[in-house]
This record gives sequence, C-alpha cells and structure tokens, in this order.
Amino acid sequence: MSTHDAVSVIAAKRDGHALSDSQIDWVVDAFTTGAVADEQMSALAMAIVLRGMDRHEIARWTQAMIASGERMDFGALRRDGRPLRTVDKHSTGGVGDKITLPLAPLVASYGLAVPQLSGRGLGHTGGTLDKLESIPGWRADVGAAEMMTQLAEVGAIVCAAGSGLAPADKRLYALRDVTATVESIPLIASSIMSKKIAEGTAALVLDVKVGSGAFMKSIDDARELAETMVALGADAGVETVALVTAMSTPLGLTAGNAVEVEESIEVLAGGGPGDVVELTLALAAEMLAAGGVDADPATNLANGRAMDSWRAMIAAQGGDPDAPLPRADHQETITAERDGVVSRLDAMGVGVAAWRLGAGRARQGEAVQHEAGVRWHARPGDRVRAGDLLFTLSTQTPERFGAAREALADAVTIVDDTGDGVSDLAGPLILDRVTVGT
Ligand code: URA
Repeated sequence: MSTHDAVSVIAAKRDGHALSDSQIDWVVDAFTTGAVADEQMSALAMAIVLRGMDRHEIARWTQAMIASGERMDFGALRRDGRPLRTVDKHSTGGVGDKITLPLAPLVASYGLAVPQLSGRGLGHTGGTLDKLESIPGWRADVGAAEMMTQLAEVGAIVCAAGSGLAPADKRLYALRDVTATVESIPLIASSIMSKKIAEGTAALVLDVKVGSGAFMKSIDDARELAETMVALGADAGVETVALVTAMSTPLGLTAGNAVEVEESIEVLAGGGPGDVVELTLALAAEMLAAGGVDADPATNLANGRAMDSWRAMIAAQGGDPDAPLPRADHQETITAERDGVVSRLDAMGVGVAAWRLGAGRARQGEAVQHEAGVRWHARPGDRVRAGDLLFTLSTQTPERFGAAREALADAVTIVDDTGDGVSDLAGPLILDRVTVGT
C-alpha cells in the first residue's frame, strides 16, 4: 500500500514545495499504470508550470520517466569488427526546421552512427517523420533488429521511437499539449532527456530554439533550458552539448513536408539556403567532435558523400530517392504591398499557415497532406518592390487558403529602405553554446 496519493502530491507542488524522491517515483509510475488519472496529472503539470522544479526534482523526474519503459543499448554496434560510436541530435522544435534530414546522413558519412528516433508534428512545428513520409515508399516504423543493421551498414536512421521508450512521457506530452502546459523548463527538459537517455546514444547535441516560433521566447530561458538538459545528460553519462539558436524567423525558405525534403536535398547537393547550411554545418561539427572525428563537415556536402549516405538511408527504409515528390494541386500567392526592406518574417505566423494548409495535424493520429506547405521568397534583410512575390501557399484542400492567409496577415514587416544596416536585419543564427560547467 503506497503512502502517497495524487491529491497530496498536487497540493504540495501547488503550494510551492519541492517534491520528494518517493513522491516523484510514485506519481510517475502511478500515472503510467493508470492509477493517477489524466485530470490529476494535468493539474500537477500546471502546478509544475507555475511553481517550477529544482534541479534535483528535475533529475529525479527524468529518471522516473526513463524507468517507466525500456532502455536501448547500442553498445554492440560494430562495423568491420570495430565499435561504432553513436551521436544523436535533438531540436526543441521550430518552423521550417528540416535540419535532421541533411544532418543525419552528413554525420554518418564520416563513419559515426546516428540513431535519430523522431516524432510526428503536432501544432505549428513540423514532424521529421511526416516530412520523410512524403518520399514514396519510405516507412518510419522499423524494428529494433532492423535498426541495428541499418546503423551498422548505412550509419544513419530516422525512425519512429518505439512505444516502449519513456511511455510516461508519451502520455504526459499528449496531456500537456491540450492543457497549455508545454512551456515549462522542467517539463521540456525531462521530456526530451528521458527519451534521449532511454534511447542509449553515447553523445547528444541539442539545438535549443529561442524566439517567436519556439517554446522559449527569451534567451535567458533558452540558456536555462540548455543548461538543465546538458546537466541531465552529463549525470546520465551521455556527453551532451547544446547550441542556442534563433527561431524568430523560420529556417530556410519552406515549411511543410515535401517542400522541406526538397530543400534538404538541395543542401545535400551542395546548395540550399544559407541559414540551413550554416546550422547543419554547426551541428555536424559538434557531432563530429563528440564522436571523436577530426574533420570539416563542409567537405562531404561538397563532394557528394553526404548525398550518397542520404540515398542509402532512404532506400534502406523502402523509399525511392529518385521518385518525384508529391506536389499540391492548388497554389495561391501573396505579394508585397509596398517597396522597402523586409525587417521581420514571423516564424509562428508561417508555422501556423503551413499547419492550416494541411501540413500539420490538430489531433494526434490525423493524416497530414504531404503536398501542403508555405514557401517564402523574401527574408529579413531582402529588398522588395510592391507586387513582388512574398509567399506561395500549397494545399490539396483550397478551402484552407483563407485561414492560412489570415495567419500570414501580420507575418511580414516591410520598412523603408534607408540604405544602411539592411544586411544586419537577418540577425545571428547561433546565439550561444552550452557545455557542462558553462
Ligand atoms: N519536445 C519534447 O519531446 N518534449 C517537450 O516537452 C517539448 C518538445
């Protein structure tokens, strides 16, 4: 018979107390088995959002979520008889964030193993699996044995995380999503790190987003989230480093599914938008360093090895890397109303528009439109003339155009072109680097 009950745990946090180890272990376990009801866990999540958790509570909560399920172990991975080091990357989520697509094969092309267990999109941020599923034949569900074989032979895999990894987080995340309790440093840090530690990667590079299109709106909060996750990783023996990167402007020139795959392939072919290339190379450099590889990641983007690795990764999961990507039957455009310089392109507005066009889902389990998305033709710092193309909207369901246009109504600011300082409007992309002890 337990000495705990849900109401007293909720009340303790509501009143601003730190939860004890045994309260945390009990409540996470009881929630996983169904003994603590969804409405009780929702109330506790809200109390955590409002009252916070100290580092010890966060670490214990993370451990309890890991203990709710199975742990994977890549220790037996070998190539040519030699152990393969695993390095993973995780982004806290942003608009147009397709970086995993070029990054995983790029890093694998240097002989490291990249087990990228990913999720599907919910709300305005896209999901990596939804994007890759726009490639004809590609499948996200891969069994554990197949995963090991693909990692040993190809080096990179992007697939669905099995339901056995941190099941407490899966249930809790679904609740948080519908109870306005996502934006909390303790809850985000423990959610992400429980999955990554359970996944068993040896090293981890985090991309912590900050800005209007991210969960963290201020640089101080983003730094605190980064420090919290880096410390959780280090405690669990996972070598962890974080980059804090800007997410007020969406990444690249596209948000959606097939359109983002297309843009990623451009990067793998040695082209693509400058910001996507910059972030891919910065994260790759961290992953190579964490994996003990001394190399410049730009080399394998330029010489085609990263593209070879991409093709092998897609084909290994049933995808046809040469098949044409789906295109939408319906397109509309939005043009500039005046001459000037773009001073702002709002990531949230773009993300919501792509979502409303059908690229994302409003409820778990809904189908997404692979063809749907937004392409933008100007970024902060670009000069435009009245009538120039700002956005192309694509969908299979044209009745969605109105709602998408509404989301974009205030997404772009065009100011007078004063001639100087225009190039600074884009702002820096990589804002900070956080390691243990920083
Ligand atoms: N991604 C996660 O996996 N969990 C969160 O809480 C937020 C983003």
